[in-house]
Amino acid sequence: MNFYNRDFLKILDFSEEELHYMLATAKKFKQIKKAGQNHKYFPGKNIVIVFEKTSTRTRCSFEVAGYDLGMGVTYLDPTGSQMGHKESIADTAKVLSRIYDGIEYRGFDQKIVETLAENSDVPVWNGLTNECHPTQALGDFMTIEEYFGNLEGLTLAFVGDTRNNVANSLMAMSAKMGVNFIACGPNHLRTDEEVVRKCQEVASKNNCTITVTDDLNALNAKADVVYTDVWLSMGEDKEKWGERIELLKPYQVNTELMNRAKPGAIFLHCLPSFHDLNTSIAKDINDKFGLTEMEVTDEVFQSKQSLVFDQAENRMHTIKTVMFLTLYKEEAK
Ligand code: CP
Ligand code: NVA
Repeated sequence: MNFYNRDFLKILDFSEEELHYMLATAKKFKQIKKAGQNHKYFPGKNIVIVFEKTSTRTRCSFEVAGYDLGMGVTYLDPTGSQMGHKESIADTAKVLSRIYDGIEYRGFDQKIVETLAENSDVPVWNGLTNECHPTQALGDFMTIEEYFGNLEGLTLAFVGDTRNNVANSLMAMSAKMGVNFIACGPNHLRTDEEVVRKCQEVASKNNCTITVTDDLNALNAKADVVYTDVWLSMGEDKEKWGERIELLKPYQVNTELMNRAKPGAIFLHCLPSFHDLNTSIAKDINDKFGLTEMEVTDEVFQSKQSLVFDQAENRMHTIKTVMFLTLYKEEAK
């Protein structure tokens, strides 16, 4: 396996073996961090993390992981660079890769992160695009493996807006890891057929299935993991809230829905989540549409089955792994 100087743009770019190796490495990094052992492998290296959309987990994970590995980190916020408006993506990539040893990008089209990667001599890491959220899927599968002890044969049901970035990356990761994947949501928000076809091809090699349905009965006594995400993603038109609520209300993850899953099933969410009224957006939605909870009820979110904060922590260990593996050059013997 050779990860050196590779980009991390989407899950399907990596083999089953490579993804398993990443999860195993993340487990080691978690132990090292908990034991307080020094792991400053890259003194003198510097990375830049470019965010065209806001972030808590991903930004903090890249920053802390970078510092833990001994590197300097520059954060460019959604208004802080010339990229896109005054300087092309290609030129920005050429500039940043002269100055830095690695580039993280969070933003809009997947094409942007691909253009950055094509024009950069250093690794480019995808911190979320409209289409994919690969570091999220890696952290989530670390969490699932920690809890169940293994992955193969499990069933993950993503319920809600099944076309979104998180769902796409989870579908790809499930196919690679031999996990059955159920995308359950309204037909109006169907996953891109080409994405599904590619994942089904991978899944069939790994003895697992990909199911796309609007029928919640698909979860019955099958799902080991129930996963949801916000009903409107960053960058989408806010005018769509009303339409989304109508379409997705039947797919809210509540106790009744959790009871469909296998006994002992866990609940996951990439976060942030609208499970109460303690955010300005949730208050706004409450004023306009009268909802007090959205994609998940507070009861499920706060339950013992909910591992959402383990997921959040594991983002850091897995992001550290991606940076470590793509930056570490084995000495020639
Ligand atoms: N899950 C996730 O990517 O969270 P942030 O938007 O806070 O980075
Ligand atoms: N689908 C969400 C994920 C946030 C981590 C979004 O893109 O806003």
